[in-house]
Amino acid sequence: MLIHSASQLIILAGGPQRGQRLGQLGIITDGAILIQDGKIIAVGQSEQLLADYPQEPQLDAGDCVVMPGFVDPHTHLIWAGDRAVEFEMRLEGKTYLEILAAGGGILSTVNATRQASLETLLVETRPRMLAMLEHGTTTAEAKTGYGLNTDSELRMLEALIMLDEQSPLQLAITFLGAHAIAPEYKDNPQGYTDLLCEEMLPAVRNWWPGDRQLPFVDVFCETGAFDLNQSRQILSRAAELGFPLKIHADEFDNLGGAALAAELGAVSADHLVATSEADIKTLAESDTVAVGLPGTPFGLAEENYTPAKTILEAGGLLALATDLNPGTSWCENMQFAIALACRYMGLTPAQAIAAATINAAAAIDLADQIGSLEPGKQGDLLILKTPSYQHLGYRFGTNLVKTVVKRGEVVFQSQS
Ligand code: NIG
Ligand code: FE
Repeated sequence: MLIHSASQLIILAGGPQRGQRLGQLGIITDGAILIQDGKIIAVGQSEQLLADYPQEPQLDAGDCVVMPGFVDPHTHLIWAGDRAVEFEMRLEGKTYLEILAAGGGILSTVNATRQASLETLLVETRPRMLAMLEHGTTTAEAKTGYGLNTDSELRMLEALIMLDEQSPLQLAITFLGAHAIAPEYKDNPQGYTDLLCEEMLPAVRNWWPGDRQLPFVDVFCETGAFDLNQSRQILSRAAELGFPLKIHADEFDNLGGAALAAELGAVSADHLVATSEADIKTLAESDTVAVGLPGTPFGLAEENYTPAKTILEAGGLLALATDLNPGTSWCENMQFAIALACRYMGLTPAQAIAAATINAAAAIDLADQIGSLEPGKQGDLLILKTPSYQHLGYRFGTNLVKTVVKRGEVVFQSQS
């Protein structure tokens, strides 16, 4: 397939963009891209590629931006039920951590998810995947974490593998058995931490199909969830078993999770709202990607967002994600995350786009395969109904995606 006449072809070549380098879009005006067998073969000027490949089936992208598919590197994609009632409770004055401490929050979704059959989980999750794809996400990370015992967590992993195989939306899977203290261990968080290390992580390691890359292991390092020592214990055990690492750090309180991520060589540290300046510096000097999730403070109607400028000034690698989940951010749409990041994290549209593509790919360790339009990479791209890239960020609340291409196939086409 030869896509040509793009008003702007955004290639984002040259790998993940650190610090102030963030936002180098690499725009080709009147651009074209050739994809064969799911892979990008060539990018360049339309005139050149049309002359070089006259036999290729053509797709005219006139007046449109063509860019890499969004990569959403932090989602809790799979769950059962909803928490609409808690949303109302929060608006009436209860905080997120108060609801969690009272056995609601994550634990109410754990109840619903444990009771759901595998089929129910698949049926409830598929529409969210479709919404993600239609809004331009071509690869997403997806966490377990609403099972909190070996059987339910393995069922979530099994469902995620099936969904990845059935859908054009590619998934990078994460085991988040350490999402909350399981209700059975309510008064014994250390007991649940030990269970994770001694039983659950080895069970995942043994069960995991040998032909798939190992999942990430993630921990919610937070007041009321896992403290810094418990987070260190779980992540160190996971590393020992060969798992790559992620962490939820400093969403509400500054427990030191960001520095722990840097110390353990985690692939990403996510949230980073309450992170100290010293920890931001430590993180920025490491290869761990800092993932900002602006949908979360927005969803909770809170004031503080990830301090993107400080992270960039310190030379950090910054990515963006939706944090799609039923509690804090039921949002499938990376365009909306970009719009929020431009307003509340102080990013320019160009910076937000790079954070949502090539740097987001780095946050799931796939920057060599996706996140930019370079020969040899997967043919994952979007055709936007806009003539220039700034419309991303500038506009919000409607879908700007016209066409989604995954591995060289058109998987979504807008009717308008
Ligand atoms: O990233 N912080 C922990 N996990 C999610 C919320 C999950 C939930 O509330 O169900 C988050 O915000
Ligand atoms: Fe999360």
